[in-house]
Amino acid sequence: MKIGIDQMAFATTPYYIELSDLAAARGVDPNKFKIGIGQDRQAVVPPTQDMVTLGAAAAKKLPKNALRQVTTLITATESGIDNSKASGIYIKRLLKLNDYIRVVETKEACYSATAALQFARGLVALNPEETVLVIASDIARYGLKTPGEVTQGAGAVAMLVTKNPHVLAIESVSASYTKDIMDFWRPLFAAEAHVDGKYSNQVYVDFFLKTYQRYIQITGRTLADFAAIAFHLPYTKMGKKGLDGLLNNDQSPVAQRLRNNLTAEQQFSRQVGNLYTGSLYLGLISLLQNGDVQPRERIGLFSYGSGAEGEFYSGILQPGYQEYIDSHLQEELQNRQQVTIDQYEHLFNQQLGMSSADVEFDVSSDPSEYVLAGQKNAQRNYQIQD
Ligand code: CAA
Repeated sequence: MKIGIDQMAFATTPYYIELSDLAAARGVDPNKFKIGIGQDRQAVVPPTQDMVTLGAAAAKKLPKNALRQVTTLITATESGIDNSKASGIYIKRLLKLNDYIRVVETKEACYSATAALQFARGLVALNPEETVLVIASDIARYGLKTPGEVTQGAGAVAMLVTKNPHVLAIESVSASYTKDIMDFWRPLFAAEAHVDGKYSNQVYVDFFLKTYQRYIQITGRTLADFAAIAFHLPYTKMGKKGLDGLLNNDQSPVAQRLRNNLTAEQQFSRQVGNLYTGSLYLGLISLLQNGDVQPRERIGLFSYGSGAEGEFYSGILQPGYQEYIDSHLQEELQNRQQVTIDQYEHLFNQQLGMSSADVEFDVSSDPSEYVLAGQKNAQRNYQIQD
């Protein structure tokens, strides 16, 4: 039985900054951000949005009849809003899903959406009638004027995992690798990530090569068996560092195709920034919409989560996949509202963070359907807007 991703949708915030503006404000050459980091724009998060509202917005884009079938909801996040309660329970209410479902949250930095997908595959293998909704949702936040600032971002990817999937049938072989490493983490007291940035780059490439080589050892496959390799993209240059580490100076047609498809994968991420758990899967949507890939071809996927864990796995693209992935993303990204660096800094400082104080936000300025209206008695108040 084929099991895998049946449908995919993406949502981000209504606002963005141009990274050339951020470069000017920080006194940096804009080419460092555009070429050196490989990012053009960054999603800006108003206080009325968090990983719950973004996750609900992504899932709401899936067809209503498909959402009605959901039997299990798994949220994957590293910017969760509660240390105990699963964020998916709020999302379940906002989406008006059936009460007779199971809901849980996974965590291992940016890797956990892949863990959620693999767990979902297992559930469907045990009971082919299961429809699992996996939502990868995060706000990537490093702090104003930090080296990580240019690699911030926000958004969510929602995926349905079923038997006979329409997008990607996940193959059973995969290679995982885990080591206790402090390259990036967020202690319980911190609203922003702690990161050893240069070290994290090295660990990422090392884990990619280790997991890719193990996968090749197990399967006996070669590079020519892949139409594309999709990478976790904390910033788009990171994917290039990974692929360069594998291809070196290989100029063969196979290698050139992988490079061109990486460019296609990077297209949407360049305009949004890091989604942490969702980044690999926004990359996959971008690849499927903008790349040179055909049904029945194999796509490799490299998932990385700091701390650190990597997994290389693969899937076979299904006929007619185009109809089951979010289709108007380029237009939606174009329609976001640009804000100035002053406005971005103001919004950044208004986010709830670790504060326990009661607060009410003005939701009228946020055009999103799902909004965070504030916090009272340490409980977040989510609302649905018409
Ligand atoms: N024109 C073109 N390129 C330029 C340039 C210019 N004028 N000026 C600098 N550059 C290039 C540099 O040569 C460098 O390129 P290489 O990486 O290819 O050598 C690149 O721009 C970045 O320059 P620096 O290394 O000097 O940048 P930095 O010290 O300011 O920090 C960073 C970069 C380490 C990525 C930092 O933004 C950071 O810490 N980000 C967060 C951590 C992160 O994203 N790590 C990724 C792996 S971990 C992971 O994947 C999990 C996750 O999601 C967090």
